[in-house]
Amino acid sequence: MNETLNKFFHFLDASPTSWHAAKEIGRQLTECGFAPLSETESWQLEKGTGYFVVRDGSAVAAFRLPKKKAKRALLLASHLDSPALKLKPIADVGGEVSQFFTEIYGSPLLHTWLDRDLALAGRALVKTKEKPLESLLVYLKEHPLIIPSLAPHLDRSIGEKGLQINKQDHLRPIASLAKNPLMLEEMLRRHISFEELLAHDLFLVPLEKAAFLGPEKEMIASYRLDNLTSAFAMLFALTNSKPLDDALQICVFFDHEEVGSESFLGAASSFLNQLLDRIALHEGISGDELFCFKNRTWCISADAAHGYHPNFSDRFDPKNAPCLGKGVVLKTNAQQRYATSATSAAPLIQICKDRKLPLQTFASKSDIPSGSTVGAIVSAVCGIPTVDIGIASLAMHSIRETISSEDLIGLLTLLKEVIHYAPKS
Ligand code: CO
Repeated sequence: MNETLNKFFHFLDASPTSWHAAKEIGRQLTECGFAPLSETESWQLEKGTGYFVVRDGSAVAAFRLPKKKAKRALLLASHLDSPALKLKPIADVGGEVSQFFTEIYGSPLLHTWLDRDLALAGRALVKTKEKPLESLLVYLKEHPLIIPSLAPHLDRSIGEKGLQINKQDHLRPIASLAKNPLMLEEMLRRHISFEELLAHDLFLVPLEKAAFLGPEKEMIASYRLDNLTSAFAMLFALTNSKPLDDALQICVFFDHEEVGSESFLGAASSFLNQLLDRIALHEGISGDELFCFKNRTWCISADAAHGYHPNFSDRFDPKNAPCLGKGVVLKTNAQQRYATSATSAAPLIQICKDRKLPLQTFASKSDIPSGSTVGAIVSAVCGIPTVDIGIASLAMHSIRETISSEDLIGLLTLLKEVIHYAPKS
Protein backbone atom coordinates (compact mmCIF):
# COMPACT_ATOMS: atom_id res chain seq x y z
CA MET A 1 0.00 0.00 0.00
CA ASN A 2 2.75 2.44 0.94
CA GLU A 3 4.60 1.94 -2.33
CA THR A 4 1.44 2.72 -4.33
CA LEU A 5 0.68 5.78 -2.21
CA ASN A 6 4.27 6.98 -2.71
CA LYS A 7 3.67 6.67 -6.45
CA PHE A 8 0.52 8.74 -6.00
CA PHE A 9 2.51 11.44 -4.17
CA HIS A 10 5.02 11.43 -7.02
CA PHE A 11 2.15 11.77 -9.52
CA LEU A 12 0.78 14.79 -7.59
CA ASP A 13 4.25 16.37 -7.45
CA ALA A 14 4.70 15.94 -11.20
CA SER A 15 1.24 17.31 -12.01
CA PRO A 16 0.73 20.92 -10.84
CA THR A 17 -1.41 21.58 -13.96
CA SER A 18 -3.31 19.52 -16.55
CA TRP A 19 -0.43 19.93 -19.05
CA HIS A 20 2.03 18.48 -16.56
CA ALA A 21 -0.39 15.68 -15.65
CA ALA A 22 -0.88 14.77 -19.33
CA LYS A 23 2.89 14.64 -19.81
CA GLU A 24 3.34 12.44 -16.72
CA ILE A 25 0.53 10.10 -17.87
CA GLY A 26 2.24 9.84 -21.28
CA ARG A 27 5.56 9.10 -19.60
CA GLN A 28 4.11 6.31 -17.46
CA LEU A 29 2.16 4.82 -20.37
CA THR A 30 5.31 4.80 -22.55
CA GLU A 31 7.22 3.11 -19.73
CA CYS A 32 4.53 0.39 -19.72
CA GLY A 33 4.78 -0.22 -23.46
CA PHE A 34 1.94 2.01 -24.74
CA ALA A 35 2.85 3.70 -28.04
CA PRO A 36 2.07 7.37 -28.74
CA LEU A 37 -0.25 8.22 -31.65
CA SER A 38 -0.97 11.59 -33.20
CA GLU A 39 -4.46 12.79 -34.16
CA THR A 40 -2.96 14.40 -37.27
CA GLU A 41 -1.32 11.25 -38.65
CA SER A 42 -2.72 7.90 -39.76
CA TRP A 43 -2.55 4.96 -37.35
CA GLN A 44 -1.28 1.39 -37.59
CA LEU A 45 -2.76 -0.68 -34.76
CA GLU A 46 -1.93 -4.19 -33.59
CA LYS A 47 -4.11 -6.56 -31.54
CA GLY A 48 -3.38 -6.81 -27.83
CA THR A 49 -1.29 -3.62 -27.93
CA GLY A 50 -1.66 -0.31 -26.04
CA TYR A 51 -1.63 3.21 -27.49
CA PHE A 52 -2.31 6.76 -26.38
CA VAL A 53 -3.14 10.07 -27.97
CA VAL A 54 -2.83 13.58 -26.51
CA ARG A 55 -4.95 16.51 -27.69
CA ASP A 56 -3.38 19.98 -27.38
CA GLY A 57 -1.14 18.90 -24.51
CA SER A 58 -3.78 18.40 -21.83
CA ALA A 59 -6.40 15.77 -22.80
CA VAL A 60 -5.26 12.16 -23.04
CA ALA A 61 -6.92 8.99 -24.28
CA ALA A 62 -5.16 5.64 -23.74
CA PHE A 63 -6.45 2.31 -25.00
CA ARG A 64 -5.51 -1.32 -25.47
CA LEU A 65 -6.91 -3.43 -28.29
CA PRO A 66 -8.25 -6.86 -27.37
CA LYS A 67 -6.72 -10.11 -28.59
CA LYS A 68 -9.57 -10.71 -31.05
CA LYS A 69 -11.82 -8.31 -32.95
CA ALA A 70 -13.38 -5.82 -30.52
CA LYS A 71 -17.09 -6.29 -29.84
CA ARG A 72 -17.41 -3.90 -26.92
CA ALA A 73 -15.37 -1.51 -24.82
CA LEU A 74 -14.72 -0.79 -21.18
CA LEU A 75 -14.36 2.90 -20.74
CA LEU A 76 -12.96 4.80 -17.75
CA ALA A 77 -13.35 8.59 -17.83
CA SER A 78 -12.04 11.41 -15.62
CA HIS A 79 -10.56 14.91 -15.86
CA LEU A 80 -7.13 16.44 -15.29
CA ASP A 81 -7.97 20.09 -14.54
CA SER A 82 -8.62 21.70 -11.14
CA PRO A 83 -9.98 25.09 -10.08
CA ALA A 84 -7.27 27.75 -9.92
CA LEU A 85 -6.31 31.36 -10.57
CA LYS A 86 -4.99 31.97 -14.06
CA LEU A 87 -2.81 34.84 -15.28
CA LYS A 88 -4.42 37.17 -17.82
CA PRO A 89 -2.74 37.42 -21.28
CA ILE A 90 -1.23 40.80 -20.36
CA ALA A 91 -0.34 39.92 -16.80
CA ASP A 92 2.06 42.59 -15.49
CA VAL A 93 0.12 45.19 -13.49
CA GLY A 94 2.95 47.75 -13.78
CA GLY A 95 2.56 49.34 -10.32
CA GLU A 96 5.03 50.25 -7.56
CA VAL A 97 5.55 46.57 -6.74
CA SER A 98 5.50 43.69 -9.26
CA GLN A 99 2.07 42.06 -9.41
CA PHE A 100 0.03 40.09 -11.93
CA PHE A 101 -3.57 40.32 -13.11
CA THR A 102 -5.46 37.06 -12.63
CA GLU A 103 -8.82 35.63 -13.58
CA ILE A 104 -10.68 32.69 -12.13
CA TYR A 105 -10.60 29.19 -13.64
CA GLY A 106 -13.55 27.06 -12.48
CA SER A 107 -14.83 27.67 -8.97
CA PRO A 108 -11.92 27.64 -6.51
CA LEU A 109 -12.54 28.33 -2.81
CA LEU A 110 -10.95 31.75 -3.29
CA HIS A 111 -9.94 32.52 0.30
CA THR A 112 -7.76 29.38 0.35
CA TRP A 113 -5.46 30.95 -2.29
CA LEU A 114 -4.62 33.82 0.10
CA ASP A 115 -1.55 33.87 2.36
CA ARG A 116 -0.03 30.82 0.65
CA ASP A 117 3.33 30.27 -1.01
CA LEU A 118 2.29 30.04 -4.65
CA ALA A 119 4.15 29.26 -7.88
CA LEU A 120 3.36 29.86 -11.54
CA ALA A 121 2.88 26.65 -13.51
CA GLY A 122 1.58 25.84 -16.96
CA ARG A 123 2.94 26.35 -20.45
CA ALA A 124 4.57 29.05 -22.54
CA LEU A 125 4.32 29.21 -26.34
CA VAL A 126 7.58 30.69 -27.53
CA LYS A 127 9.78 31.30 -30.56
CA THR A 128 13.23 29.82 -30.06
CA LYS A 129 16.45 29.89 -32.11
CA GLU A 130 15.62 26.40 -33.40
CA LYS A 131 11.84 26.53 -33.81
CA PRO A 132 9.34 29.21 -34.87
CA LEU A 133 6.83 27.84 -32.34
CA GLU A 134 7.46 25.70 -29.31
CA SER A 135 5.28 24.81 -26.32
CA LEU A 136 7.32 24.59 -23.11
CA LEU A 137 6.08 23.38 -19.73
CA VAL A 138 6.94 25.66 -16.85
CA TYR A 139 6.79 25.27 -13.09
CA LEU A 140 8.53 28.24 -11.47
CA LYS A 141 9.08 26.71 -8.03
CA GLU A 142 12.13 28.87 -7.33
CA HIS A 143 10.15 32.10 -7.52
CA PRO A 144 7.32 31.93 -4.95
CA LEU A 145 4.57 34.56 -4.95
CA ILE A 146 1.87 35.48 -2.44
CA ILE A 147 -1.62 37.01 -2.41
CA PRO A 148 -1.81 38.62 1.04
CA SER A 149 -5.21 38.91 2.71
CA LEU A 150 -6.23 42.00 4.71
CA ALA A 151 -5.56 42.35 8.43
CA PRO A 152 -8.79 42.54 10.51
CA HIS A 153 -7.61 45.87 12.00
CA LEU A 154 -8.19 47.45 8.57
CA ASP A 155 -11.73 46.09 8.18
CA ARG A 156 -13.50 45.18 11.41
CA SER A 157 -16.27 43.29 9.53
CA ILE A 158 -13.79 40.54 8.53
CA GLY A 159 -14.12 38.90 11.95
CA GLU A 160 -17.88 38.48 11.46
CA LYS A 161 -18.37 38.08 7.73
CA GLY A 162 -14.97 36.93 6.45
CA LEU A 163 -12.99 38.88 3.86
CA GLN A 164 -15.19 39.97 0.95
CA ILE A 165 -12.95 39.23 -2.05
CA ASN A 166 -13.22 41.43 -5.14
CA LYS A 167 -12.17 39.16 -8.00
CA GLN A 168 -10.61 41.95 -10.07
CA ASP A 169 -8.73 43.83 -7.33
CA HIS A 170 -7.92 41.45 -4.49
CA LEU A 171 -6.40 38.42 -6.26
CA ARG A 172 -3.18 39.92 -7.64
CA PRO A 173 -0.15 38.04 -6.38
CA ILE A 174 2.97 39.97 -5.38
CA ALA A 175 5.99 38.64 -7.29
CA SER A 176 8.54 41.20 -6.05
CA LEU A 177 8.78 44.42 -4.06
CA ALA A 178 10.80 45.86 -6.95
CA LYS A 179 9.05 47.85 -9.67
CA ASN A 180 9.37 45.78 -12.86
CA PRO A 181 6.82 46.10 -15.66
CA LEU A 182 8.38 43.09 -17.45
CA MET A 183 8.42 40.81 -14.42
CA LEU A 184 6.66 37.83 -16.01
CA GLU A 185 8.98 37.61 -18.99
CA GLU A 186 12.02 37.90 -16.71
CA MET A 187 10.72 35.14 -14.44
CA LEU A 188 10.19 32.88 -17.44
CA ARG A 189 13.63 33.66 -18.89
CA ARG A 190 15.27 32.45 -15.69
CA HIS A 191 13.81 28.98 -16.38
CA ILE A 192 13.47 28.59 -20.13
CA SER A 193 15.30 30.16 -23.05
CA PHE A 194 13.43 31.76 -25.93
CA GLU A 195 13.65 34.64 -28.38
CA GLU A 196 10.04 35.73 -28.09
CA LEU A 197 7.17 34.94 -25.73
CA LEU A 198 4.07 34.50 -27.90
CA ALA A 199 1.40 33.29 -25.48
CA HIS A 200 1.00 31.54 -22.14
CA ASP A 201 -1.37 29.48 -19.98
CA LEU A 202 -0.15 30.01 -16.42
CA PHE A 203 -1.88 29.11 -13.16
CA LEU A 204 -1.11 30.00 -9.55
CA VAL A 205 -0.60 26.72 -7.72
CA PRO A 206 0.46 26.04 -4.12
CA LEU A 207 4.05 25.07 -3.32
CA GLU A 208 3.05 23.02 -0.28
CA LYS A 209 3.41 19.34 -1.07
CA ALA A 210 0.95 16.54 -0.43
CA ALA A 211 1.13 15.10 3.11
CA PHE A 212 -0.29 12.27 5.17
CA LEU A 213 -2.37 13.31 8.18
CA GLY A 214 -3.43 11.33 11.25
CA PRO A 215 -1.43 8.90 13.41
CA GLU A 216 -2.03 6.01 10.98
CA LYS A 217 -1.47 8.19 7.89
CA GLU A 218 -5.17 7.65 7.33
CA MET A 219 -5.70 10.94 5.49
CA ILE A 220 -4.00 12.67 2.57
CA ALA A 221 -4.07 16.45 2.14
CA SER A 222 -3.10 18.08 -1.15
CA TYR A 223 -4.09 20.41 -3.97
CA ARG A 224 -5.81 18.76 -7.01
CA LEU A 225 -7.09 15.59 -5.29
CA ASP A 226 -10.15 16.51 -7.43
CA ASN A 227 -9.47 14.86 -9.78
CA LEU A 228 -5.95 13.41 -9.78
CA THR A 229 -7.14 10.67 -7.41
CA SER A 230 -9.36 9.28 -10.20
CA ALA A 231 -6.81 9.93 -12.97
CA PHE A 232 -4.13 8.08 -11.00
CA ALA A 233 -6.43 5.16 -10.21
CA MET A 234 -7.43 4.85 -13.90
CA LEU A 235 -3.82 4.96 -15.03
CA PHE A 236 -2.90 2.39 -12.38
CA ALA A 237 -5.71 0.07 -13.51
CA LEU A 238 -4.80 0.28 -17.19
CA THR A 239 -1.04 -0.11 -16.74
CA ASN A 240 -1.54 -3.08 -14.39
CA SER A 241 -3.96 -4.97 -16.64
CA LYS A 242 -3.83 -7.47 -19.47
CA PRO A 243 -5.58 -7.35 -22.85
CA LEU A 244 -9.10 -8.83 -22.87
CA ASP A 245 -10.51 -11.29 -25.36
CA ASP A 246 -12.91 -9.11 -27.32
CA ALA A 247 -13.25 -5.94 -25.23
CA LEU A 248 -11.31 -2.77 -25.84
CA GLN A 249 -9.99 -1.05 -22.69
CA ILE A 250 -10.01 2.75 -22.78
CA CYS A 251 -9.06 5.45 -20.28
CA VAL A 252 -9.87 9.01 -21.20
CA PHE A 253 -8.59 11.99 -19.23
CA PHE A 254 -10.40 15.17 -20.29
CA ASP A 255 -9.46 18.78 -19.63
CA HIS A 256 -11.87 21.69 -18.93
CA GLU A 257 -14.33 19.77 -16.70
CA GLU A 258 -14.14 22.55 -14.11
CA VAL A 259 -15.33 25.09 -16.70
CA GLY A 260 -18.21 23.05 -18.13
CA SER A 261 -16.54 20.58 -20.56
CA GLU A 262 -17.72 22.39 -23.72
CA SER A 263 -14.38 22.87 -25.43
CA PHE A 264 -11.90 21.25 -27.82
CA LEU A 265 -10.50 19.24 -24.89
CA GLY A 266 -13.58 18.66 -22.78
CA ALA A 267 -15.97 15.74 -22.42
CA ALA A 268 -18.44 17.48 -24.77
CA SER A 269 -15.80 17.63 -27.53
CA SER A 270 -15.33 15.23 -30.45
CA PHE A 271 -12.25 13.70 -28.77
CA LEU A 272 -13.76 10.46 -27.47
CA ASN A 273 -16.26 9.87 -30.27
CA GLN A 274 -13.52 10.39 -32.86
CA LEU A 275 -11.27 7.98 -31.00
CA LEU A 276 -14.00 5.32 -30.89
CA ASP A 277 -14.75 5.81 -34.61
CA ARG A 278 -11.09 5.62 -35.57
CA ILE A 279 -10.48 2.47 -33.57
CA ALA A 280 -13.66 0.95 -35.05
CA LEU A 281 -12.39 1.76 -38.53
CA HIS A 282 -9.11 -0.03 -37.81
CA GLU A 283 -10.89 -2.98 -36.25
CA GLY A 284 -13.15 -3.28 -39.28
CA ILE A 285 -16.27 -2.43 -37.26
CA SER A 286 -18.74 -0.53 -39.41
CA GLY A 287 -22.41 0.09 -40.10
CA ASP A 288 -24.79 -1.68 -37.77
CA GLU A 289 -21.88 -3.32 -35.94
CA LEU A 290 -20.58 0.08 -34.85
CA PHE A 291 -23.88 0.91 -33.15
CA CYS A 292 -23.85 -2.48 -31.40
CA PHE A 293 -20.24 -1.83 -30.34
CA LYS A 294 -21.12 1.52 -28.72
CA ASN A 295 -24.29 0.18 -27.11
CA ARG A 296 -22.41 -2.76 -25.59
CA THR A 297 -19.85 -0.40 -24.04
CA TRP A 298 -19.93 0.46 -20.35
CA CYS A 299 -18.41 3.65 -18.96
CA ILE A 300 -17.21 4.31 -15.44
CA SER A 301 -16.81 8.02 -14.81
CA ALA A 302 -14.64 8.78 -11.77
CA ASP A 303 -14.48 12.13 -9.98
CA ALA A 304 -14.20 13.44 -6.43
CA ALA A 305 -17.31 13.17 -4.22
CA HIS A 306 -18.42 15.35 -1.28
CA GLY A 307 -17.57 13.50 1.92
CA TYR A 308 -19.58 13.98 5.12
CA HIS A 309 -18.12 16.95 7.02
CA PRO A 310 -18.59 16.58 10.80
CA ASN A 311 -18.58 20.40 11.30
CA PHE A 312 -21.35 20.94 8.75
CA SER A 313 -23.60 17.93 9.28
CA ASP A 314 -26.70 19.94 8.26
CA ARG A 315 -25.42 20.06 4.65
CA PHE A 316 -25.87 16.30 4.11
CA ASP A 317 -28.60 13.73 3.65
CA PRO A 318 -28.68 11.61 6.85
CA LYS A 319 -28.36 8.26 5.01
CA ASN A 320 -26.81 9.10 1.63
CA ALA A 321 -23.69 10.98 2.76
CA PRO A 322 -20.43 9.08 2.21
CA CYS A 323 -17.86 9.15 4.98
CA LEU A 324 -14.08 9.34 4.54
CA GLY A 325 -12.51 5.92 4.99
CA LYS A 326 -15.64 3.89 4.26
CA GLY A 327 -15.07 3.04 0.61
CA VAL A 328 -15.64 4.17 -2.97
CA VAL A 329 -18.73 6.31 -3.58
CA LEU A 330 -21.49 5.54 -6.07
CA LYS A 331 -22.89 8.94 -7.10
CA THR A 332 -26.54 9.31 -7.95
CA ASN A 333 -28.86 12.20 -8.81
CA ALA A 334 -32.50 12.02 -9.88
CA GLN A 335 -32.00 15.06 -12.16
CA GLN A 336 -29.29 13.05 -14.05
CA ARG A 337 -26.47 15.41 -13.10
CA TYR A 338 -24.76 12.07 -12.52
CA ALA A 339 -25.24 9.44 -15.22
CA THR A 340 -25.74 6.54 -12.80
CA SER A 341 -28.89 4.48 -13.42
CA ALA A 342 -30.01 1.25 -11.79
CA THR A 343 -28.85 -0.68 -14.89
CA SER A 344 -25.47 1.04 -15.22
CA ALA A 345 -24.80 0.71 -11.47
CA ALA A 346 -25.84 -2.92 -11.03
CA PRO A 347 -22.67 -4.53 -12.55
CA LEU A 348 -20.49 -2.29 -10.37
CA ILE A 349 -22.45 -3.18 -7.23
CA GLN A 350 -22.10 -6.85 -8.17
CA ILE A 351 -18.30 -6.55 -8.60
CA CYS A 352 -18.05 -4.87 -5.18
CA LYS A 353 -20.17 -7.61 -3.56
CA ASP A 354 -18.14 -10.41 -5.20
CA ARG A 355 -14.79 -8.89 -4.21
CA LYS A 356 -16.03 -7.70 -0.79
CA LEU A 357 -15.12 -4.09 -1.60
CA PRO A 358 -16.94 -1.42 0.44
CA LEU A 359 -19.21 0.85 -1.62
CA GLN A 360 -21.13 3.88 -0.32
CA THR A 361 -23.89 5.94 -1.90
CA PHE A 362 -24.07 9.66 -2.46
CA ALA A 363 -27.25 11.60 -3.03
CA SER A 364 -27.22 15.30 -2.22
CA LYS A 365 -29.48 16.86 0.40
CA SER A 366 -32.72 17.61 -1.43
CA ASP A 367 -32.51 21.39 -0.93
CA ILE A 368 -28.90 21.58 -2.22
CA PRO A 369 -28.34 21.25 -5.98
CA SER A 370 -26.04 18.43 -7.06
CA GLY A 371 -22.64 18.81 -8.69
CA SER A 372 -21.88 17.09 -11.97
CA THR A 373 -18.95 15.69 -13.94
CA VAL A 374 -17.92 14.14 -17.27
CA GLY A 375 -20.13 11.04 -16.83
CA ALA A 376 -23.45 12.59 -17.85
CA ILE A 377 -21.81 14.25 -20.88
CA VAL A 378 -20.00 11.13 -22.13
CA SER A 379 -23.20 9.20 -21.69
CA ALA A 380 -25.23 11.72 -23.72
CA VAL A 381 -22.65 12.53 -26.42
CA CYS A 382 -21.51 8.95 -27.12
CA GLY A 383 -24.68 7.06 -26.21
CA ILE A 384 -22.90 4.88 -23.66
CA PRO A 385 -24.46 3.69 -20.36
CA THR A 386 -22.40 5.26 -17.60
CA VAL A 387 -21.99 4.98 -13.85
CA ASP A 388 -20.52 7.82 -11.76
CA ILE A 389 -18.19 6.99 -8.91
CA GLY A 390 -15.39 8.69 -6.95
CA ILE A 391 -13.84 9.00 -3.54
CA ALA A 392 -15.12 11.18 -0.74
CA SER A 393 -13.21 14.37 -0.07
CA LEU A 394 -13.42 17.30 2.32
CA ALA A 395 -13.16 20.94 1.19
CA MET A 396 -13.50 20.13 -2.52
CA HIS A 397 -12.10 23.01 -4.63
CA SER A 398 -9.91 24.24 -1.77
CA ILE A 399 -6.20 24.69 -2.45
CA ARG A 400 -5.80 21.85 0.06
CA GLU A 401 -8.38 19.06 -0.08
CA THR A 402 -8.51 16.02 2.20
CA ILE A 403 -9.27 12.36 1.43
CA SER A 404 -8.82 8.99 3.13
CA SER A 405 -5.74 6.93 2.10
CA GLU A 406 -7.80 3.74 2.40
CA ASP A 407 -10.46 5.05 -0.02
CA LEU A 408 -7.83 5.74 -2.65
CA ILE A 409 -6.56 2.18 -2.34
CA GLY A 410 -10.21 1.05 -2.60
CA LEU A 411 -10.63 2.96 -5.88
CA LEU A 412 -7.41 1.46 -7.29
CA THR A 413 -8.59 -2.04 -6.38
CA LEU A 414 -12.06 -1.49 -7.83
CA LEU A 415 -10.84 -0.04 -11.13
CA LYS A 416 -8.32 -2.88 -11.47
CA GLU A 417 -11.25 -5.29 -11.24
CA VAL A 418 -13.41 -3.22 -13.59
CA ILE A 419 -10.75 -3.00 -16.32
CA HIS A 420 -10.85 -6.79 -16.61
CA TYR A 421 -14.63 -6.94 -16.68
CA ALA A 422 -16.15 -7.52 -20.10
CA PRO A 423 -19.74 -6.29 -20.20
CA LYS A 424 -22.11 -8.84 -21.67
CA SER A 425 -23.68 -8.27 -25.07
CO1 CO B 1 -13.82 17.02 -10.38
